[in-house]
Amino acid sequence: MEFRPTDLSGRKILITGAAGGIGAASARICSAHGAEVALVDIADVDTIRRTVGELSGPATFHSCDTSQKEAVRRLSEATGPVYGLVDCAAICPPDDWLDDSWDEALERTIEVNIKGPANLTRAYYPKMVEQGEGRIVLFGSVAGWMGGLRSGPHYAFTKGGIHAFTRWLAQRGAPHNVTVNAIAPGPIDTPMIYGRGYEAETYPMKRLAAPEEVGSFVLLLCGPGGGFASGAIFDVNGATHLR
Ligand SMILES: NC(=O)c1ccc[n+]([C@@H]2O[C@H](COP(=O)([O-])OP(=O)(O)OC[C@H]3O[C@@H](n4cnc5c(N)ncnc54)[C@H](O)[C@@H]3O)[C@@H](O)[C@H]2O)c1
Repeated sequence: MEFRPTDLSGRKILITGAAGGIGAASARICSAHGAEVALVDIADVDTIRRTVGELSGPATFHSCDTSQKEAVRRLSEATGPVYGLVDCAAICPPDDWLDDSWDEALERTIEVNIKGPANLTRAYYPKMVEQGEGRIVLFGSVAGWMGGLRSGPHYAFTKGGIHAFTRWLAQRGAPHNVTVNAIAPGPIDTPMIYGRGYEAETYPMKRLAAPEEVGSFVLLLCGPGGGFASGAIFDVNGATHLR
C-alpha cells in the first residue's frame, strides 16, 4: 500500500488552544488531511468555531479550562479516547517579575502552561497505552531554550519545563507505541504576541511565521510520517536561536 506520511483518515485528534493562532491552524490542517478533530479552548464554543472557520471533516467543540483537573476529566469523558493529543493552550502574561503583582501571574502561568499539559496527558495517555498507539504533541518555545525573545521568566521556565516533560514522557510512551514530541516555535504571528513589540525585520528571516507553518509540523508528528520521531523538540524559529 502507498505510504502517505500525512494521512490522518480515521484518526481522532484533540487540539487545545483551538481558538488561538496555532491551534486553529493545526485544526484546519489536520481536518484537511482526514482527521476527526475535537477542538478545545477556554473560550466559548462559538468563538472556537468562528476562529477555526471552515473544516473539511467532522469536528466537536469544547469549552474547557485545561488548568482544571476535574474539567479535563469531564472533557475526556465527552470526547472519549483520542489518537492524537495536541496541546497548544498556553498564556504568556507580560507582568514584570520584580513587581509585587507578579506572583499571581506566575501562579496562573504555571497552572495553564504546566498543570494544563499534565492534566491532559494524565487524562488521555493511559488510553493510548491501552490502544497500543498514540501521538502527543506539546508546545515548548524558543523561550524554553534561551529565555525568550520578549517574554517574562514565568513563561520561559514553564516552557523549559515542557521540554523536560516531553523527554520524560517520551521514554515511557515508546514501548507502547505512543510518541511524544514538542514544538518550540520562535516568533509566530498570532494573538499571543500582538502588541508586544515583536518587530519582523529584526529577525533573521525578516518576518514572523504564519501559524500554518507550525500547524504543518503538528500534521507530520500526528501522521504516519512522524511515527519514529519521539522525545524531540522541533525548533520552528526561523533561525532566531540555534542550538
Ligand atoms: N506565537 C508565538 O510566537 C509562540 C512562540 C513560542 C511558543 N508559542 C506557543 O505556541 C502555542 C500556541 O500559541 P499561539 O501563538 O497560538 O497563542 P494564542 O494566544 O493565539 O492561543 C492560545 C490559546 O490558548 C487558549 N487558552 C489559554 N488558557 C487556556 C486554558 N486554561 N484552557 C484552555 N485554553 C486556554 C487561549 O484562549 C488561546 O485561544 C502556545 O503553547 C505558545 O506558548 C507561541
